[in-house]
Amino acid sequence: MEVHRTSADVDIMITGAHQESPRVATAAVAAPSPWPQYARTRDGAEYRIRPIRPEDRERDRAFIAGLSPQSRYSRMMGLVREPSAEVLDHWVRVDYRREMALVAVVGEGTDETILAVARYGGNPAYCEFAVAVADAWQGRGIGTHLSELLFTYAKAHGVRRMYAILLADNKRMLKLADDLRMSVRRSPDDNSVVEAWRTL
Ligand SMILES: CC(C)(COP(=O)(O)OP(=O)(O)OC[C@H]1O[C@@H](n2cnc3c(N)ncnc32)[C@H](O)[C@@H]1OP(=O)(O)O)[C@@H](O)C(=O)NCCC(=O)NCCS
Repeated sequence: MEVHRTSADVDIMITGAHQESPRVATAAVAAPSPWPQYARTRDGAEYRIRPIRPEDRERDRAFIAGLSPQSRYSRMMGLVREPSAEVLDHWVRVDYRREMALVAVVGEGTDETILAVARYGGNPAYCEFAVAVADAWQGRGIGTHLSELLFTYAKAHGVRRMYAILLADNKRMLKLADDLRMSVRRSPDDNSVVEAWRTL
């Protein structure tokens, strides 16, 4: 049996080369990507989940711009009104080996819209995680599902602990942190925020 490696990184095994029967070529194709994943909100609306990509820059900008002032304040901890071009570039250019941003989307092609983003990055011993869901889609299970998928991905990629910093009065995020089995503790430096931690 001869094995030829092609540029597409697929092994073509050619069997029976010395026999009279015709050559049989079998392509061993790489395992299919797990993305996108299809999901439904608690009230039955279908959406997809996939890793963010560089071409999502405008979609991500529109997602942030479309958040209510309250949601944006909660997500950005009051620090950012509009992310700069550099920050947006950084958010969509993800090194999938040491960080990840999963987006929940609806629509196809140029109509595709981001509903939610969950991301982590940093030191694999303890990565920071954050999530935001478009206001019209909140309270429908997306934040929980997206975060659970992100934690599963993080664990499979060597992350040992995940933490989030949230405003102490962010009840929805506190509930989500509880649902994600994170333990919440006061920040030693700032009374207005709390830390949520979980070992994966
Ligand atoms: C916090 C946030 C990510 C939660 O995502 P979500 O998709 O709305 O959450 P889920 O629908 O998965 O629900 C999680 C829990 O939050 C609560 N919740 C979420 N949205 C709610 C709403 N609109 N009204 C009442 N409760 C709500 C529910 O109690 C729910 O618990 P349940 O399982 O008992 O129903 C979302 O509200 C959000 O984007 N907030 C603004 C940004 C932010 O605060 N990010 C956190 C920074 S780390």
